[in-house]
Amino acid sequence: MATRIDGKALAAKVKARAAAQAKDLPRRPGLAVILVGDDPASRVYVTGKEKDCAECGFLSFEHQLPAATTQRELLELISRLNRDTAVDGILVQLPLPGHLDEEQVLGAIDPEKDVDCFHPLNVGRLVIGNPAFLPCTPAGVMEMLREYGIEVAGKHCVVLGRSNIVGKPMGMLLLQQSGTVTTCHSKTPDLPAITRQADILVSAVGRVGLVTGDMVKEGAVVIDVAMNRNARGRLCGDVDMASVEPRASYITPVPGGVGPMTRAMLMENLLRAARRHQGM
Ligand code: GUN
Repeated sequence: MATRIDGKALAAKVKARAAAQAKDLPRRPGLAVILVGDDPASRVYVTGKEKDCAECGFLSFEHQLPAATTQRELLELISRLNRDTAVDGILVQLPLPGHLDEEQVLGAIDPEKDVDCFHPLNVGRLVIGNPAFLPCTPAGVMEMLREYGIEVAGKHCVVLGRSNIVGKPMGMLLLQQSGTVTTCHSKTPDLPAITRQADILVSAVGRVGLVTGDMVKEGAVVIDVAMNRNARGRLCGDVDMASVEPRASYITPVPGGVGPMTRAMLMENLLRAARRHQGM
């Protein structure tokens, strides 16, 4: 039976560490959060991030904009926040309403304030192995592996999903730790044949029940990044806990696994940005 990786407890530890380190700064780290429209899930995420800031003693500045906000208005706000010296980090909650150009918006954020690590310059820095920030969700996964003493070097790491937010940067961080990385996606034939080779399996697809016990090698580490709702409306990941947990060596629950770690790593990035802005 697998050991459950406690993301909630580790996230609390990471946040306490960030809060303690921020005490040496002359000015408190400040996060600007932009939420366009009223998507309820996004609202929950934004409130959570603001709560984390308060918990760490960091400032958060919320900018809730109407769904009809124009591209120009949004770019003007970002430009103002780029120049605001009280703002160390800028986060635009995704997804944006369909009429807005996400790529242009993310590219307008000052790369030194890009605490999500979504700006092309920061993605490029990550790929060449000289990152300014680490992408929050993949960094949270790496922190979990480190905390539980799970070695990545030489392991076959299989990532399910190729999104810019999780799948692609996840593969990059595992590769930088000398894992052998396979990225699977919707066009991958015979998924179980590949997942069964995984020493470390990371699922970031968003489909309830995607990963079942017969797809997992005995003793594999299984990391579930997804946040789905099952038929009964309960929060769950991609992994079928009942059939996978008996086969895995380590497993992350949903909720209480990767989710809290993503938020904790955002606080770490904000601290990193604030230190740099304050010449520390
Ligand atoms: N939407 C879903 N995940 C994320 C995230 O990590 N950052 C932002 N800004 N939006 C998201």
